[in-house]
Amino acid sequence: MDTNPEKLEMFYEGKAKKLYATADPDLVIAYFKDDATAFNAKKRGTIEDKGVVNNRMSELFFLMLEREGVRTHFVRRLDDREMLCKRLDIVPVEVVVRNIVAGSMAKRLGREEGEALRHPVVEFYYKCDALDDPLIIADHAIVFGWATQTELNTIHESAMRVNDILSRFLDQRGVILVDFKLEFGRHHGAILLGDEICPDTCRFWDKATRKKLDKDRFRRDLGDVEGAYHEMLRRVES
Ligand code: TMP
Repeated sequence: MDTNPEKLEMFYEGKAKKLYATADPDLVIAYFKDDATAFNAKKRGTIEDKGVVNNRMSELFFLMLEREGVRTHFVRRLDDREMLCKRLDIVPVEVVVRNIVAGSMAKRLGREEGEALRHPVVEFYYKCDALDDPLIIADHAIVFGWATQTELNTIHESAMRVNDILSRFLDQRGVILVDFKLEFGRHHGAILLGDEICPDTCRFWDKATRKKLDKDRFRRDLGDVEGAYHEMLRRVES
């Protein structure tokens, strides 16, 4: 095993992670915090060990996706809370894939949460806290220069592959992948999947009971938040 690279200056702090430079300009260290926010940080709290669970679960998902040919920023996990990643120029378009109606889709379109979609739906959001990440169409991203048509095609195809791979894997572990959010970035001309894949960024429902095993327990004050995160990690590790 290589020795761990030294953490240099922190150049970015988001709601859930801090990013540090390393001596290699192509590599960054992501530090996973326990801080939890919802509704664009209007609601704040902490979820004990969330950073540890999200780091480990993201590692397992990124390794699985890489094995299946999806290109990601993941290099290796360094310790409980740190992951070595390729440095990305983030595309400011968040991608949400939905298999079942929930959350903002239920609200926006007046549909019942839990309604199965006939086929997965891919949505784009403009990554902009000041605007509360508005839903956009592909042409908005292209006309304002956030991504090219070619990049959006790559992103769309990759997001659908991720949905296929993770839905199948989770189904075998008694979990429904309801929806999830992905972020992508550019690295030496390639589009790589970035960020994290964890109960903060996905909706996971137990197949038998439909119990929510994700951040909706925090967003909606459902209780047993930590229990749900650990239960999900246990299933993904099994
Ligand atoms: P939504 O139904 O609130 O639009 O969320 C869709 C999915 O995206 C859900 O799995 C949670 C995830 N998500 C994030 O990862 N970050 C966010 O800021 C939001 C709003 C949702």
